Amino acid sequence: MKKLFTLALTAAVSVGAFAQAYPTKPITFVVPFAAGGPTDLVARQLAESMRKHIPNSNIVVENAAGAGGTIGATKVARAAPDGHTLLVWHIGMAATTGLYRKLQYKPLEDFEYLGMINDVPMTLLGSTKLNANTYRDFENYIRANAGKLNLAHAGLGSASHLCGLMWQSAVKLDKSMTTIPFGGTAPAMNALIGGQVDVMCDQTTNTTSQIEGGRVKAFAVTTAKPLSGHKLLKDYPSLQEMGLKGFNLTIWHGLYAPKGTPAAINKTLNDALQKALKDPDFIKKQEALGAIVVNDKRVTPQGHKDFVAAEITKLKGVIEAAGQFAD
Ligand code: MLT
Repeated sequence: MKKLFTLALTAAVSVGAFAQAYPTKPITFVVPFAAGGPTDLVARQLAESMRKHIPNSNIVVENAAGAGGTIGATKVARAAPDGHTLLVWHIGMAATTGLYRKLQYKPLEDFEYLGMINDVPMTLLGSTKLNANTYRDFENYIRANAGKLNLAHAGLGSASHLCGLMWQSAVKLDKSMTTIPFGGTAPAMNALIGGQVDVMCDQTTNTTSQIEGGRVKAFAVTTAKPLSGHKLLKDYPSLQEMGLKGFNLTIWHGLYAPKGTPAAINKTLNDALQKALKDPDFIKKQEALGAIVVNDKRVTPQGHKDFVAAEITKLKGVIEAAGQFAD
């Protein structure tokens, strides 16, 4: 009995000591898309805030783009479960589950869920060369010219791909546009501004400044209702208002660690995340870009996991309906 007690005490002390010693080196936020894009922006703003809530911590961002985000996710699923390599990812965690039938990891088994970060509406955009200024013009123009136009996205299973897929199937285009993949919507946005691509659907966190600057045209938002609270985006209709019944797409971001990361470290990270989500500076920066910082049960690891499980089921249906698979 005494031996058992000593063992338990040693274990408790080592876990405590382990958590107290954490972190022992910079923490890396892996972003599975190119630098400068919406997911990169969320990760960098979150790093800035979470640093304040983990003593002696330094958080760096590493971009590991490709395959709609699954390359970066695989990297973290296989990383050492010591709390120093984390993943900041979005709805792709759910969408790629339906699209890629040969994923290198199991989304609900190979990660520790550390809590959700934000919800981000999307905007339907066109290059300034497009001969359309309202959503109606835009839809009619695409209907008439789809075979000659292209749609940019950040890889199969990315948010921009999912939105393009959902919009084209919602408006029942006779012919789909040619899709052009990029390593993220940052490089895709440069191509849209340059007129090399015609259409893109992207997160407001990446589009607001380009719309404001007149460098791209915006036609609608993907949320169920218009964004009446946003100073710029309030002027754009929701796709539902434009007749696309039930169209409602918001991109959510979450934080993940490799499966097997010690519970004490996961708690340290979730505590720091929850403090960051209440940080007025972080909230202000996010809201300025049209993002809504999560403040419901999804900030808890279990709430986060339950939500993603439900999204996986929901999006599987959307993807099967569109009948497009990545492999
Ligand atoms: C990005 O950060 O580039 C985006 O989140 C990509 C996407 O999923 O559309």
